Amino acid sequence: MMHLITWLTGNSYHPAGWRHELAWERTAMRLDVLIEVAKIAEQAKLDALFVADGNGVRNMDKVGLFEANTPSARPTVHDPVTLMSAISQHTKHIGLVGTASTTYESPWVVARRFASLDHLSNGRASWNVVTGSNPGDSENFGLERHPDRNERYARAEEFVSACKALWDSWDEDAFVERKDTGQFLDATKVRTADFNGRYLSVKGPLNVARCPQGRPVLFHAGQSEGGRRLAARHADCIFEAAASVDAAREFYADLKSRRAELGGNPDHLRVIVSVAVYIGRTEHEAESLYSELNSLISPDIGADFLAKAVSEDLTGYPIDGAMPDLSASVVGGNSIRGQLDSIAKAENLTIRQMYQRVVPTMGNTALIGTAARIADVMEEWYTTGACDGFVLGASINPFTLKLIRDELVPELQRRGLFRTEYKGTTLRDNLGLPPVENSFDPAAFPPLPARGASGNPQM
Ligand SMILES: Cc1cc2nc3c(=O)[nH]c(=O)nc-3n(C[C@H](O)[C@H](O)[C@H](O)COP(=O)(O)O)c2cc1C
Repeated sequence: MMHLITWLTGNSYHPAGWRHELAWERTAMRLDVLIEVAKIAEQAKLDALFVADGNGVRNMDKVGLFEANTPSARPTVHDPVTLMSAISQHTKHIGLVGTASTTYESPWVVARRFASLDHLSNGRASWNVVTGSNPGDSENFGLERHPDRNERYARAEEFVSACKALWDSWDEDAFVERKDTGQFLDATKVRTADFNGRYLSVKGPLNVARCPQGRPVLFHAGQSEGGRRLAARHADCIFEAAASVDAAREFYADLKSRRAELGGNPDHLRVIVSVAVYIGRTEHEAESLYSELNSLISPDIGADFLAKAVSEDLTGYPIDGAMPDLSASVVGGNSIRGQLDSIAKAENLTIRQMYQRVVPTMGNTALIGTAARIADVMEEWYTTGACDGFVLGASINPFTLKLIRDELVPELQRRGLFRTEYKGTTLRDNLGLPPVENSFDPAAFPPLPARGASGNPQM
């Protein structure tokens, strides 16, 4: 079965979507709006909701763009795990995927937060592992610079390994809670993580019992060599930004073969491609909405948006002149920059033509049309080795999300491509992933001091 996810945000995916009359009137920090998004997505039987995140407010250097609130500027958003904890109490089946950065957080805190969410949601928690694509975030953490990509991924590798060791620190049945004997937990069923790396060390154990899924489902969103390596080793799912079906097939084949080379099962690594959805009840409605939304983006904002997407200052370049060469590497995200550089060169595009392409897709692929037409494309991608599923960007919220529920999902169900009911109880089950084995081996772990030998109990 195909896997479907959508973004847990009141914002619309198109940068000007929030201005459209079919969008919510006000969304900033509104829990009622976010609960509504979650409910629509769960009625559609989607696998999961996704909360993207960063560690700072972006785009303040481009005031027009900042004031226009493009989705990636994130000027006012809830902390993902706090938000997902609230949403978990208003939903029953849908998974909850949230971002946390390995560059600016600590493994003990991240492992604890997501394990806790997994308990609160009865096995629906997932962590989207990112290394951070916004260089300015470093200034919120007292660091002089955003570490370069190699360093970020070396730390990320240690970070995820440390979290895995922490999640394995308790055996499933450690908390016996025996009123008759006074034994709350079985001390033979805990171990410390004792992780010592070059960047991080953490002793453990975690102060959260082993979680319902064994450990939260791990997503990763990197696309570079380092990102692919990390995903192949550790991830259950990888998010992908693909500008074409051919690019998606290349990425898919690469990730699956990397997993196989490491001795893993390629079917246990899901590739989820991000798309922008411009659905209408008729072709005419879809095309009109698409043009209307694009007309709400002024050339200034379009050019600034493009400048951010490719991490290049485009000030002074004529809007109808050629795109500058983007082959030099930058500290932030290079993947979209590289992709767009190739497209601009291959098609000889101007800055205006480039932003007109990038704004509606956010560097991904746009699916425009009726449910049947969009389902045709999704079916082709899914059945020809381009992806295992999609993260659907609703161009106008809630209008698009409701049409996804009422038209697109039923169309995919008719084709036998998508579930009609949730079958599993956890996100891992619904994604068709195998249970996680605990690496806990009591025999390999030195026993705790004998009872009564450790002096007074600590408070
Ligand atoms: C669907 C999707 C979701 C993403 N979500 C986030 C996010 O929440 N936070 C973040 O910092 N980066 C996010 N990214 C960006 C990636 O983490 C990464 O920086 C980017 O794909 C470039 O890859 P690289 O870091 O390996 O160069 C996302 C990317 C994709 C495709």
